[in-house]
Amino acid sequence: MLRPLYVVVVILQCLLATPSAVNCFDDPLWSNPAWNEATIYDYIEDDLFFEIIYPEELSYTYRLRRARDFGIPFDQQLKGVRLVLSDPLECCSMPLNAPKLHGAVVLVSRGDCSFVSKAIKAAEAGAIAIIVTDNNTENDELYIEMVDDNTHRQPDIPAAFLLGKSGYIIARTLMLANEDAAIINIPVNLTTVPIHKLNQPPWIVW
Ligand SMILES: *[C@@H]1O[C@H](CO)[C@@H](O)[C@H](O)[C@H]1NC(C)=O
Ligand SMILES: *[C@@H]1O[C@H](CO)[C@@H](O)[C@H](O)[C@H]1NC(C)=O
Repeated sequence: MLRPLYVVVVILQCLLATPSAVNCFDDPLWSNPAWNEATIYDYIEDDLFFEIIYPEELSYTYRLRRARDFGIPFDQQLKGVRLVLSDPLECCSMPLNAPKLHGAVVLVSRGDCSFVSKAIKAAEAGAIAIIVTDNNTENDELYIEMVDDNTHRQPDIPAAFLLGKSGYIIARTLMLANEDAAIINIPVNLTTVPIHKLNQPPWIVW
């Protein structure tokens, strides 16, 4: 989805540059300085990212859509924290594995109750942030805008949405490996990372 945008930006820069300054149309796209210097923040508005550093087969950088109008901001960088699946995944009542969620970022599934209800349950279990993944495990492109449920309840942890396909692969990988948790950094600052160096999951096309 982003690629046509890069092409437009590069072509615009070609049109605006003097012919001697830039030899745009002979060069492959990736050798153009615009491509090398742009960072993902030039294109993604207000989204944020986290990275999994363990286990290795999940070690990629994942994009998240912030909850629109509930929860607190992700203003603190959490490094080396646990990412733990809620049990049951929907997190609509107090999770059975609540002790493991204490001090962790919890990964829950969409469905059965409101986003706000999930975030409140997660906070009650002691989670420090909540990532809600789509219950459509095939979803690899549609970011849900999570809004409040008009109950005027306000969870006191940050909340964000993860594509269903990524959530599904993370959950399945942890379960198959019998791992309680992944280890993550959230949010990560990618300002100095050029787009072509982003370590995105191979199953997602940004
Ligand atoms: C997914 O969640 C939405 C919203 O709660 C719900 O309407 C839908 O039925 C759920 N789908 C599945 C497959 O669970
Ligand atoms: C991200 O890093 C850049 C460069 O180091 C810095 O200028 C910027 O303030 C950082 N942003 C956040 C949100 O920490």
